[in-house]
Amino acid sequence: MKNVIVFPATRAIPAAAEGSDTTDLAVVIPTYNEHDNVETLIAALDTALGGIRYELIFVDDWSQDGTADLVRSIARTRSDIRCISRFGRRGLSSAVIEGMLSTSADIVAVIDADMQHDESRLGAMFDLVMRGEADVAVGSRYREGGGCGEWSARRVQISRAATRLAQLALPNPITDPMSGFFVIRRDIVVELAPRLSQKGFKILLDLLMSAPKPLRVSEVSYVFRTREAGVSKLSTAVMFTCLIMLLKKAVGRWIPMRLAAFLTVGLLGLGVHLGVLRLALLAGWSFTVAQAMAVTVAIAFNFSLNNAFTYRDRRLKGFRILAGLASFYAVCAVGAAANVGMGSLVYAAGHRWWLAGAAGAVAGSIWNFAMSSWFTWRRR
Ligand code: GDD
Ligand code: MN
Repeated sequence: MKNVIVFPATRAIPAAAEGSDTTDLAVVIPTYNEHDNVETLIAALDTALGGIRYELIFVDDWSQDGTADLVRSIARTRSDIRCISRFGRRGLSSAVIEGMLSTSADIVAVIDADMQHDESRLGAMFDLVMRGEADVAVGSRYREGGGCGEWSARRVQISRAATRLAQLALPNPITDPMSGFFVIRRDIVVELAPRLSQKGFKILLDLLMSAPKPLRVSEVSYVFRTREAGVSKLSTAVMFTCLIMLLKKAVGRWIPMRLAAFLTVGLLGLGVHLGVLRLALLAGWSFTVAQAMAVTVAIAFNFSLNNAFTYRDRRLKGFRILAGLASFYAVCAVGAAANVGMGSLVYAAGHRWWLAGAAGAVAGSIWNFAMSSWFTWRRR
């Protein structure tokens, strides 16, 4: 199914009808073993959110320290607090997504349970989204007035490096794309949810990267505080998993993975091609014959690698390998004709042997990609 997503640029959230008790803001709080922070956080949020009709949604992944029980016991006396308790699953991103999808409030906020995010900035962030000035309001450590508090030098370094990388992948020029503290319109989350990866903990980054049209982002600075109680759950390993996922996503956004693989194989094939061409020329063959030999070897080489990697999911086995190789040659024969023709042309024009060889290979490989995915590795 094709998703057509249109985010009206200036639509503000409609004001709640007079006298209705609509909730304006849902604050999603992911928790894993945060028992000792729950009451402090609720008190802090109650103070910070005065004047806003809000609800607090804790999403707990079966903490062993009684976090969920505590939240439920508080929720017995407060209808604006509830606990989504998940069993047999772990994951910050998926917890946050589930929390955000579980509310009918038009605007949702995400904040850590450990008091590291400055809840007093929430009101300003909410206003930006409520007034329609931004689709997302992000709490930023790296904007003027923000800070990382008492982080170790190593953690600051890792965070900085990850931030730079994320900035490269994003259309939005924002200072803290790795922030776990933000306010966003719920309809945007609902639209984007099927595209989100659920893995890792960079939910904001995932949202920004999954939007078909850049979201309008505003940043509000804050100083990252020291953890109130308990320990951090984000190991370096988690961060690396997350970075790999993001890289994949960043690349996949511009070039389909399969084409990227085909091109990489093609590049290696070009190396093989040029090597054979060089040897054949040294052996005294004419350029046209040498180029034809190089093409023949390179095709066999590319076929094996593409069959093993690029089309791993449609991999040809047994006798099909021979049939596939034959069809790949057939497909490439036309490509090879273009290849040799183009190469000879460039060579005849007086250019260097390697430029001529490469020009031929490029012309041939464009044809090869299109045709081989239709014939050789046809979806069955
Ligand atoms: N439900 C659920 N499931 N919650 C989780 C899980 C999980 O698997 N892992 C962590 N949490 C909760 C924690 O209980 C806490 O409330 C919040 O998510 C953040 O976890 P921390 O372990 O405190 O992360 P951090 O302080 O190292 O990193 C935070 O700050 C970074 C910098 O802004 C997170 O907010 C990161 O997303 C953020 O990049
Ligand atoms: Mn934390």
